[in-house]
Amino acid sequence: MKKRVLSGIRATGRLHLGNYLGAIKGMLALQDDSEYETLYMVADLHSITTPYNVEELKRNRREVMIDYLAAGLDPQKSILFQQAANPHHAELSFYLSSVVTIAKMQHLPTFKDKVKLHPQHSTMALLNYPILMTADILAYKASAVPVGIDQEPHLEVAREIARRMNQDYGTDFPEPQTFKSKGEYVPSLTGEGKMSKSVEGSYINLTDDLDTIKAKLAKAPTDEGKGTLESMPAGVSALLTFVQLFQGEEKRKEYENKYQSEGIRYGDLKKELAEAIHVDLMPIQEKRKELENNPQEVDKIINEGNEKAREIAKETVKEVREKMGLL
Ligand code: ADP
Ligand code: TRP
Repeated sequence: MKKRVLSGIRATGRLHLGNYLGAIKGMLALQDDSEYETLYMVADLHSITTPYNVEELKRNRREVMIDYLAAGLDPQKSILFQQAANPHHAELSFYLSSVVTIAKMQHLPTFKDKVKLHPQHSTMALLNYPILMTADILAYKASAVPVGIDQEPHLEVAREIARRMNQDYGTDFPEPQTFKSKGEYVPSLTGEGKMSKSVEGSYINLTDDLDTIKAKLAKAPTDEGKGTLESMPAGVSALLTFVQLFQGEEKRKEYENKYQSEGIRYGDLKKELAEAIHVDLMPIQEKRKELENNPQEVDKIINEGNEKAREIAKETVKEVREKMGLL
């Protein structure tokens, strides 16, 4: 039997380079590997774990699906679906919650960060976030999960739950591993922390045109252009990471050498970098336009994906109910 892969992105806004390099590139690589059966979802249920607007959620969950398709996820090769259209995820998540302690969930750094961000919104749904994510993965008995490095604490929870379920109830869940891509950590344009849609000024969207990319890069902090590599400020180091990701390792080395000799001219660096990023994004943006003009095709893909995903998850949930004495 083929190994299964599952991943998802929350429907909280438009996708950015961090999502593309950290998650989608990995999803694409596994989709094209015949050893794997790939399932990719829009994590709309996870979107309600932080404050949200109903109409925006409806819009975003469709936009993420369109971004997936534009980026090259292919319904002929992968099952593409919406998490909330599959009631088995929420059901399985409740069963799995019986083998996890509250203390464990409260101590996760991802939980603490989100509570800091939304102090008035420390809900049970948020506490359950990693358990729902585990249900997403285990519902398909997936063994590989292409996500960015920030999701590792959640994968750790998923492995622990898989082990506990196998021990206590004799299920056969694989312990899911993160599938890393080379953009597993894309820094913020500000140089502080990671690129994230919740931090203004940190991201470049997949839909940004050349002028927008240039304007965003123009705001990225720099220095006088010279110094030692050890003393390089985080902002410059972030720019060089982008150079490496979009223009290659060699180009980065070139700039590092310049930094230690005659100096970097950031105006030129940013212009070349903006163009390199734009060249990568152009085919995605063209495909997106096609899809926007063809809403029925998108609906059809979503409906068929939802159906296929439900069929697989239904079987796992049935098995869990039997083993736990609920059927
Ligand atoms: P955001 O932080 O912008 O809200 P999400 O939490 O929705 O992004 O992440 C969706 C996927 O994209 C996850 O797999 C996550 O690991 C990946 N990802 C997000 N930001 C980055 C980043 N800066 N670098 C690498 N991967 C990222
Ligand atoms: N937590 C992931 C994120 O923030 C989204 C997600 C939900 C996910 N369920 C998943 C990722 C299952 C991989 C597998 O991006």
